[in-house]
Amino acid sequence: MNVSHTRKIAFEILLRVETQMGFSDELLHSDRTNNLEERDQALVFELVLGCLRRQGELDYRIAQLSSRSLAQLDVEVRIALRLGCYQLYFLDRVPAHAAVSESVELVRLARKRSATGLVNAVLRRIAEDVEKLNFSGENHPRWLVKKWKDHFGEKTASALMGANLETAKTYLRLNTRFSTVETIELLRQEGIETNPTEIPHCLLVVSGKATRSRCYEQGRVHIQDISSQMVVPHLGLRPGMSFLDVCAAPGGKANQALELLLNKEGNLEAPAIACDLHLHRFRRMKEVTKRQFHCVTTDALHPLPFNRLFDRILVDAPCSGTGTLVRNPEIKWRLTSDDLSHLQSRQQRILSNALTLLVPGGVLVYSTCSIEPEENHQVIHNVLNKSNLLAIDCLERLPGRDAGDGFFVCKISQVE
Ligand SMILES: C[S@@+](CC[C@H](N)C(=O)[O-])C[C@H]1O[C@@H](n2cnc3c(N)ncnc32)[C@H](O)[C@@H]1O
Repeated sequence: MNVSHTRKIAFEILLRVETQMGFSDELLHSDRTNNLEERDQALVFELVLGCLRRQGELDYRIAQLSSRSLAQLDVEVRIALRLGCYQLYFLDRVPAHAAVSESVELVRLARKRSATGLVNAVLRRIAEDVEKLNFSGENHPRWLVKKWKDHFGEKTASALMGANLETAKTYLRLNTRFSTVETIELLRQEGIETNPTEIPHCLLVVSGKATRSRCYEQGRVHIQDISSQMVVPHLGLRPGMSFLDVCAAPGGKANQALELLLNKEGNLEAPAIACDLHLHRFRRMKEVTKRQFHCVTTDALHPLPFNRLFDRILVDAPCSGTGTLVRNPEIKWRLTSDDLSHLQSRQQRILSNALTLLVPGGVLVYSTCSIEPEENHQVIHNVLNKSNLLAIDCLERLPGRDAGDGFFVCKISQVE
């Protein structure tokens, strides 16, 4: 039996995530999938993200039926089992025999012939009693479940964990330099139906593939989560303001900021600088912002290399990303509580360095896509305690309670 190319791609991506600390989001948005038919691309996304989101319950079920523990199995065998198990339980459109035999074939192709019998036996047993959904494996690590329940309360934590297992919604940010009415009509003509949201210029995609549209190619719309779109408006940007984006790559928010900084003639009237540590991510940002930003590679853990102050500063800090688990589900299996304290000390250093460059009366916005207080309120509290700055207007968004990703945004104004 041949394995479909969609299963092969999903298998390869899951293998990289597990063995090379790969990120599913990056691997899914790459040449591996870009040229696939829309339907096939959707199936690869579903398989990869579904297996990672529900890894806890899949592993629980597999362990019940396997003669060997999951840890004893080769990684290729584990992944083929998860893929088969996921299809049997969650994908109605895949016939059971195909889900079983393709996983067996994946193991054979991975040169793990001796495990084909085990994979076949486990998946056949699952196929026989697929109606009995008696899962009880947790789809989040225990320490995180406890932490969230303690912090948010049982009900909110349950809603949050439920939301992390759903399919992520796609949001568009309309480029305000084009007519909104015209862009929505053009999207509709291209088969992309959208609904308005609570945020101006933010649309929810109801059907259609926006990344394959001309509107997307022309820069009329950008793919950006609804919560992420809420960060830049807190800066109150206007043409003529100097602007520093400290952790800018890959450039979603820099791009949003640029639209507000350009004057009617499409020019910047004051310096706009975008920094990041990682050069490869930075290059992509240069494309996006059409080179209007002055881009600087720098490590913001150290004093920033500028001898001027800025009216507006954005610190969209590197973080655990626990607000984005619906799109980056592998994060939850990797994160440890120690990581949070390491991240906190880095975030505090970056924020402190950035604050030294704020003009009196200026505004700095600190944001993360984390929902952990260690990376959010505690960072603000620890840093501002040491200065005469005033924190105002903190906003927290939570999956399951609010639309989109979990996010934290804090607007900090300097006392003049
Ligand atoms: C949350 S992402 C920024 C996303 C970006 N603002 C956007 O909207 O597209 C955090 C960024 O911080 C960068 N970063 C991590 N450590 C850094 C450091 N020490 N100095 C500067 N940038 C850093 C990462 O490379 C990453 O691009």
